[in-house]
Amino acid sequence: MLALGRLTLSTRILLAPMARIGDASFRLTVRHCGGVGLASTELLSARGLLEESSASLALAAIEAEDRPLCVQLFGTEPYEMAEAARRMADRGAAAIDINMGCCVPKIVGRGAGAALLRRPAQAVRLLAAVVQAVPLPVTAKLRLGWDRTCLTASDLAADLVSAGAAGIIVHGRTAEQKFTGEVLLEPIARVVERVGTVPVIGNGDVRSPQDAARMIAQTGVAGVMIGRAAKRYPWLLRDAHAYLSTGCIPPPPTRRQWLALIRTHFEHLHRLRGERLACAIFRQRMSYYFAALGLPRADRERFRNFADAQTFDRFMRSIEEATADVTVPRNTPVTTYQPSSTARTV
Ligand SMILES: Cc1cc2nc3c(=O)[nH]c(=O)nc-3n(C[C@H](O)[C@H](O)[C@H](O)COP(=O)(O)O)c2cc1C
Repeated sequence: MLALGRLTLSTRILLAPMARIGDASFRLTVRHCGGVGLASTELLSARGLLEESSASLALAAIEAEDRPLCVQLFGTEPYEMAEAARRMADRGAAAIDINMGCCVPKIVGRGAGAALLRRPAQAVRLLAAVVQAVPLPVTAKLRLGWDRTCLTASDLAADLVSAGAAGIIVHGRTAEQKFTGEVLLEPIARVVERVGTVPVIGNGDVRSPQDAARMIAQTGVAGVMIGRAAKRYPWLLRDAHAYLSTGCIPPPPTRRQWLALIRTHFEHLHRLRGERLACAIFRQRMSYYFAALGLPRADRERFRNFADAQTFDRFMRSIEEATADVTVPRNTPVTTYQPSSTARTV
């Protein structure tokens, strides 16, 4: 069983924070599919939360069904981080994570995110201030180091644990790599060896249940965090959890289950963000879903410009009416992940 401090998670699979993708509507959709031990908000500015900016507050809203939820903060000032964490604890956060891996210039330029990999003493000060401020588990999400010549994650992780971190999440790339190149498992294993006393969660390029099992076997991590692959296949966390617990992968969803999931996601978005924004956001998002469904290009084009919930509903109905309840083979570039299916290809 994976526990971060006093917070025991129901599975060893965590949903990664993803700015512009991992909002509450997405998290609720993935939770609906199952397997989520812990989900996280995208990185939220500590200062933005203190200033109560409407964007930060909207992203920080915690839905009853979206628990346990970790709130990820970024910033540079211990006081601001501590105070923002306190406010999020009052609003029902289950854990606080500190972003030490974001390499977007706007964040790094301010000395936050991955810039902290080069300022370990400041990273430790920030974490210690948050640990002092809240009665919640506090974690840090790191990359391996700034670049290949400087893989500092294990040193930094050890210092963060000494300062009170209840867990460490490591994305197996350097800041310089951004999202390119391979995820390195060996340096993640070194973090695990080094910190020993608290769980380390491995992250990066887990696209199948077998990838999750391999990461655990090769590094000794206590759990695995999944990001991008979940947006193309929201059942991946369920499948990874099932595979780790039983060695079996559940059958893939049917086409009707996919369509129901698309509706669920849109309904959450509509309820949380209003019709106009929900339509705008969903027009961008649907491409993953409809690609997974194998929807013909003509249908996807028809959908591309919808601007109200009624048109969305009409469009969905037209697909639902034309849909037999067949299983959709999992659409993945990873050839090792092929849940058994007797269904024909759609
Ligand atoms: C669009 C996007 C937004 C992201 N936003 C965040 C973020 O807000 N905070 C964070 O710690 N990591 C963020 N990440 C990194 C992911 O959490 C994760 O570490 C990375 O994508 C590697 O995992 P994956 O291969 O499973 O996606 C983001 C990644 C993507 C692709």
